[in-house]
Amino acid sequence: MKSIEKEIHLKTIGITKRFGGLVAVNHVNINVMRKSITLLIGPNGCGKTTLVNTITGIYEPDEGEVYFEGKNITGLPPDRIYREGLVRTFQIPSPFTKLSVLDNLLVAARDHPGEKFRTHLFRRSWIKTEEELINKAFEYLKILGLDKYWDREASELDAGGLKLLEIGRALMSDARMIILDEPIAGVNPRLAHNIFSHIVELRNKLGITFMIIEHRLDIALRYSDYVYAMNRGEIISSGTPDEIIRDEKVRSVYLGEV
Ligand SMILES: Nc1ncnc2c1ncn2[C@@H]1O[C@H](COP(=O)(O)OP(=O)(O)OP(=O)(O)O)[C@@H](O)[C@H]1O
Ligand SMILES: [Mg+2]
Repeated sequence: MKSIEKEIHLKTIGITKRFGGLVAVNHVNINVMRKSITLLIGPNGCGKTTLVNTITGIYEPDEGEVYFEGKNITGLPPDRIYREGLVRTFQIPSPFTKLSVLDNLLVAARDHPGEKFRTHLFRRSWIKTEEELINKAFEYLKILGLDKYWDREASELDAGGLKLLEIGRALMSDARMIILDEPIAGVNPRLAHNIFSHIVELRNKLGITFMIIEHRLDIALRYSDYVYAMNRGEIISSGTPDEIIRDEKVRSVYLGEV
């Protein structure tokens, strides 16, 4: 039992978030397993983004608790949660379109060379840090298939490339778990599959945990390990993609409306 507990990366217990009289998230319990790709699905307005906002500190829950790596992070401000290694892509400043792809990763690094420069007395140690950061950035760019564009302006990337850049920037902040809100929205199917393939690769090679909100189930379900389905603020079902597709409750509230 204990070893199973250890594998939980993120846990919510009875998370509730109200907006006035509206209960946007109602006593939600989820477990996101370490190194999993966990999908959160549900119709428009069912509370997916609000749940994620409550997990990542944008909102304080009215009730309930959030644990990340066993630590209670309920009510911590977003920047603290981000520094704990739980990163939602929009918590990082948006890509600088005029900067190169590589520079976009470097500025997203938690220990950005500029910061080190101020804190280090000796320039030599700063250079070493910068070199390490560049090596790290190239390692991520390679996995994301962006290394050949390293010196291009970010504005030259296509929609899929920009999404991957966003994930690369999250990695530079030493994220161990990344939450993505509709990463393939508005992206053509070929690029969408490409984005999800890279997510799988990051999970396999680096052991990153992903929690992903997505409407495009035809694509997203193929790459996920586990799925939580929401409706009207509540989790109505959870299971493997196969179990979710067959679930009558999910079919009626979610698939029925597509
Ligand atoms: N800041 C807010 N103030 C008041 N009501 C809000 C706020 N944010 C969300 N809501 C409401 O809470 C409910 C859940 O919204 P939420 O954005 O979490 O849904 P969602 O599942 O992410 O939907 P979508 O799939 O369209 O992105 C909706 O009824 C929405 O109108
Ligand atoms: Mg949303």
